[in-house]
Amino acid sequence: MILRSSLLVVGSFILGNGVISARAGTPFDCHINLGNNKFDLTTLAGEQVVNKTRNTQPTSTVDSLKFNLCSDLNIQSDMPESDQCPLGTRACYTQVNKKAEEPDRVISVIPMAVARKMDDYIANFESTSLFTVLSLVLHGTDYPTTDPKPQSLNLTLICDQQSNSDPKFLSYDGSKLDVEWTTSAGCPLKEEGGDAGGDKDEDKDKDKEDSKKDDPPKQHVGSGIGWFFLVLFLSLAAYFGLGAYYNYSTYGATGYDLIPHRDFWKEVPYMLSDVVSHLCSTVHPRRTSSRGGYISV
Ligand SMILES: *[C@@H]1O[C@H](CO)[C@@H](O)[C@H](O)[C@H]1NC(C)=O
Ligand SMILES: *[C@@H]1O[C@H](CO)[C@@H](O)[C@H](O)[C@H]1NC(C)=O
Repeated sequence: MILRSSLLVVGSFILGNGVISARAGTPFDCHINLGNNKFDLTTLAGEQVVNKTRNTQPTSTVDSLKFNLCSDLNIQSDMPESDQCPLGTRACYTQVNKKAEEPDRVISVIPMAVARKMDDYIANFESTSLFTVLSLVLHGTDYPTTDPKPQSLNLTLICDQQSNSDPKFLSYDGSKLDVEWTTSAGCPLKEEGGDAGGDKDEDKDKDKEDSKKDDPPKQHVGSGIGWFFLVLFLSLAAYFGLGAYYNYSTYGATGYDLIPHRDFWKEVPYMLSDVVSHLCSTVHPRRTSSRGGYISV
């Protein structure tokens, strides 16, 4: 329905450029509440690896970020412990130097987000008519040991209900690492008014139900307008129907005479053209002979 979608666009222009930002004081449990906006990041749980290769003649360097938002990363037994982030890390950034015919060398290992600092995350939600984005800043341990700098992971979740892409490594500036991820988890959950509390245990099936539930609020807007037109249409139908019946039974009218207030409706096209020519004459100040008719009801 065109009207419905244009109303939504108007709505998002009015709400547009809304930025909600919060320094969360609550434990990070992969559910985020920002005012009326709730997010469920449990769909993003699990280990993710994002790689980006740089040409560092005569070698190449792979920037690799391994992260799991909702639980700590495992220690891999097949790798030296010094080449991995310590236990309690949620996001581990490594730089691996590669040279042909030589074994790979892990040249830095940086915990970008650690479990004990997860509760200090900063969440920022921005929704405009063009995009909807939830970004999280998570904190790691200072690095390197000499001249240490605070480390943080800036994870930008771009809301897209249709497609889920893989996360993308954007950049690392020595302190902050930017990752971008297009996913439906970046979209606020739409909840029905009453049961805002919501239960926190989730399984795949419930998640599916939730995404189905995403529609109703939009439909409320649409069905409100729908009802308006339905009532308008029914009123008009009743008016013409009853009017015709009245004319028929009282005057024995037939044909066009059945139309109630026929003389008035005959005037309507002239009245409309008068209105249009009046409007036009205010734009082009040209004299128009307006039809000085009267309306008989
Ligand atoms: C990312 O890079 C690391 C280090 O070179 C490598 O071990 C891993 O297999 C790569 N993963 C992907 C998905 O490319
Ligand atoms: C996080 O990264 C995005 C780009 O993906 C950037 O627009 C935003 O400003 C960054 N936020 C912070 C706090 O650096």
